[in-house]
Amino acid sequence: MKVIAINGSPRKKGNTAELIKRALEGAKEGGAKTKLYHLYELEYTGCVSCFACKKKGNDCKGLCVIKDDLKEVLEEILKCDALIIGSPIYFSDVTGEIRSFLERFLFPILSYNEGEREQLKKSIPSAFIYTMNVPREQYESGSYKALTERNQDIIGGLLKAESRTLVSCDTYQFKDYDKYNASRFSVEEKEKVRKEQFPLDLQEAFEIGKQLSLKLT
Ligand SMILES: Cc1cc2nc3c(=O)[nH]c(=O)nc-3n(C[C@H](O)[C@H](O)[C@H](O)COP(=O)(O)O)c2cc1C
Repeated sequence: MKVIAINGSPRKKGNTAELIKRALEGAKEGGAKTKLYHLYELEYTGCVSCFACKKKGNDCKGLCVIKDDLKEVLEEILKCDALIIGSPIYFSDVTGEIRSFLERFLFPILSYNEGEREQLKKSIPSAFIYTMNVPREQYESGSYKALTERNQDIIGGLLKAESRTLVSCDTYQFKDYDKYNASRFSVEEKEKVRKEQFPLDLQEAFEIGKQLSLKLT
């Protein structure tokens, strides 16, 4: 039983990575083997619209044909039992690396045939972890929630299994706010969220990871 995680943040020790690592700890406790990929270590592009995965008689089996650093990651994902994806929010969306990753991962799975949504032989339960600067109320009321709901629908549909969403808001961006031009943020409020809410988010990540792996046994 294997759970693969994808870190779509450039920071290997940032908020997103911390939550992903905690989710993997939960998966391990549930008995899974785990593997974490940091996308920013890899050289790859988004979909190049070659349509090899849509050609009649193709042998892609849901795997993108492009041979770059993402190939191994995509092969591993198609073999795994559960998937965890993490991304910070950059300009109201996932990071560019996650966007390119999703194009390469999901487009070969998507079917263009009438009456067929996807072409995946198995189902892969998943979770998407988002971190962002905005407070929870802004996430709930704005376009952010629509983004996470849309991704949940697309990923759950194409992977034919439940896709969970974890949202960590109002994240702590710098170790020392005094050293940065960031006067629009209240350091006290940021510290409060970091101390009181972030540990709860970590716990939720752990539970999600554990539940993902327990469902597999
Ligand atoms: C280029 C850039 C753009 C960002 N845009 C947004 C944004 O639109 N909305 C938001 O809430 N936070 C935004 N943030 C804040 C990050 O989403 C937030 O700090 C996140 O937790 C960082 O994740 P990390 O610690 O894993 O790097 C942005 C940060 C960067 C560096």
